[in-house]
Amino acid sequence: MQSLYDYPDIYDAMHAAVVEDVEVYGDLARHTGGPVLEVGCGTGRISSALVGAGFTVYGLDSSVVLLARAQEKIERLQTDNGAAVGRFIPLQADILEYSDPLSVPLVILPLNFCAHLHTMCALVGMFAAVRRLLAPGGQVVLHAFPEGSGVAERDGLVHRASLSLRDAGKCDWYESRTVSGGLERLIWYVQTSDSDYTFSLVLRIWNRRDLVRAAATAGFRLVEPDTPFAGDALFLRFAAASEAAATENQP
Ligand SMILES: C[S@@+](CC[C@H](N)C(=O)[O-])C[C@H]1O[C@@H](n2cnc3c(N)ncnc32)[C@H](O)[C@@H]1O
Repeated sequence: MQSLYDYPDIYDAMHAAVVEDVEVYGDLARHTGGPVLEVGCGTGRISSALVGAGFTVYGLDSSVVLLARAQEKIERLQTDNGAAVGRFIPLQADILEYSDPLSVPLVILPLNFCAHLHTMCALVGMFAAVRRLLAPGGQVVLHAFPEGSGVAERDGLVHRASLSLRDAGKCDWYESRTVSGGLERLIWYVQTSDSDYTFSLVLRIWNRRDLVRAAATAGFRLVEPDTPFAGDALFLRFAAASEAAATENQP
């Protein structure tokens, strides 16, 4: 089966309607200042908006092709807007193996990134890697979809949408979802005018308690438990445990 993360056109079409989180990260970056590290930046849905707002963004992703699409989008933005926009620094890597030095005040893990880490060990490893990249006083913010949060609640085959592809017109998108043992197995069928694609993705459904526990094991403390999103989606903000008390009352 193919990976959605090798098909930037289809990835972008599937996420074209996901916009409600973009301004949330813009507000956060305005509060902490840049540079920002986006882990799992994909095609730059969030990174490009942050660069457009003038921030320097490190975009880390394991997918070569999605990262190339992010770079292409942001270069176009820079050509159109010149010096008014920020900089994008692509980092092609698995976050669990990333060891170059960075020191950023804000690390973001948007759109259920943690679900790609299937074990507690990997989740703690990710937080530990992020901890090494954070400047003193910095924060890490994640958005996650626990069971029942409205995103991951249907089982069976559903017709998700008709998509508009950049170069290939309209296509249909069906999704099959099964959940067992805390893992969500997604199969997406995408039919374009000239090809059919079948993508599979296995995601871990993390609950709030385990996310907070993994972050704590890596030396973080929860700073801001409120969510700016509707429903039961989690939006968790962490600071280094030794610094959390000082940042607890900040917006
Ligand atoms: C759901 S997409 C989110 C993309 C982007 N953040 C957004 O909001 O549109 C998750 C991204 O994480 C990347 N990814 C998954 N596991 C990773 C890992 N261990 N290290 C780095 N990137 C990873 C995938 O390649 C994919 O681009």
